[in-house]
Amino acid sequence: MTKLVFIQPDGTEHVVEADNGDSIMAAAINNDVPGIDGDCGGNCACATCHVYIRQSISSVVDEEEKTMLSIADSATPDSRLGCQIPVSDDLDGLRVYLPVAQH
Ligand code: FES
Repeated sequence: MTKLVFIQPDGTEHVVEADNGDSIMAAAINNDVPGIDGDCGGNCACATCHVYIRQSISSVVDEEEKTMLSIADSATPDSRLGCQIPVSDDLDGLRVYLPVAQH
């Protein structure tokens, strides 16, 4: 289990214990964290799992994710798709910032 901290735009924090191997998107949905839709089920085809990661992590953005992020509202250089980041021990304590909206 890996601790993730989801932070809403108003600063509200949701701390979850995520299963390693799940994606950040799945961890949010499985723990009823509002603000992540995950409409395509994690297939990198909807961008409704948009999050901001403001620290360096080992998971990098590939071309497919970059293309989907180009259609996400409010994308910044910190933007990632939660479905493309697998949960692992090295993410313990990761702070995941949520956008104001997913559409
Ligand atoms: S859940 Fe659809 S792109 Fe991540």
